[in-house]
Amino acid sequence: MYIIEGNDILVQVRDHRILDVDCVRLAKGKVFAVIGPNGSGKSTLLRVLSLLQKPNTGYITFKGKKVLPGEQIKIRRKMAVVFQESLLLDTSVLNNVMTGLKIRGIDHSAALKTAQYWLERFKVSHLSNRWAKAISGGEAQRVSLARAFAMEPEVMFLDEPFSNLDAPTREELLDELSEVLHSTGVTTFFVSHDFEEVAFLADNAMALMDGKPVQEAPPKEIFSNPVNEALSKFVGAKKRRKWRI
Ligand SMILES: Nc1ncnc2c1ncn2[C@@H]1O[C@H](COP(=O)(O)OP(=O)(O)OP(=O)(O)O)[C@@H](O)[C@H]1O
Ligand SMILES: [Mg+2]
Repeated sequence: MYIIEGNDILVQVRDHRILDVDCVRLAKGKVFAVIGPNGSGKSTLLRVLSLLQKPNTGYITFKGKKVLPGEQIKIRRKMAVVFQESLLLDTSVLNNVMTGLKIRGIDHSAALKTAQYWLERFKVSHLSNRWAKAISGGEAQRVSLARAFAMEPEVMFLDEPFSNLDAPTREELLDELSEVLHSTGVTTFFVSHDFEEVAFLADNAMALMDGKPVQEAPPKEIFSNPVNEALSKFVGAKKRRKWRI
């Protein structure tokens, strides 16, 4: 079953076509990655599928039903998004995780319990009373992930959540996220320009170039058989660099 499908999606800014995707489908419980160079349209596709941006043409289906105008807010509540910049609120770490739960009408003690659980799970419970604006980038990404998972979304959207982190922090968080994704089984849309991350986390991946999908396959398949020279160069860049060291 597909939780989300995007059909005939076209996004155009003035006369520039920035996204042109006939079909993208997120299978229930799977991690679907979009990989591509800077400016290839990955974040735009994430915003369109998470109903944050309306495409010029095309439509989204949620659990097989077309999302109609006026239904976006209701369906958005079933989704959570983590961006590259953590976008935490100007309050304590704990409040950052609790606020969304309270807005949903969850009472204080249940919200507190859930928030504490997720802060613990992402190893930042010791920061609960700290001001969210004064924690490190790596800590802030952990808090953002805790906040997103606390909402128990049916679909999780992750837009390059690791790209601002140093290598050891990134490795550690990748392991933890992988464990959480597998144990919760949440359907995930993961954007990255790092092929190693994609290969580690995703069941299936779409390579996007200049707004267009060029290949959709399990990451290993894209890595071993990239469809064209540009993609081959892109997925191979890291491999070559390693050889030179
Ligand atoms: N509102 C906008 N107005 C003009 N151009 C835009 C707008 N939004 C996106 N673009 C352009 O569309 C292209 C795709 O942008 P997008 O942010 O989706 O790429 P991306 O693959 O996420 O890139 P990155 O890896 O750098 O995050 C870029 O060339 C970008 O400049
Ligand atoms: Mg982006």
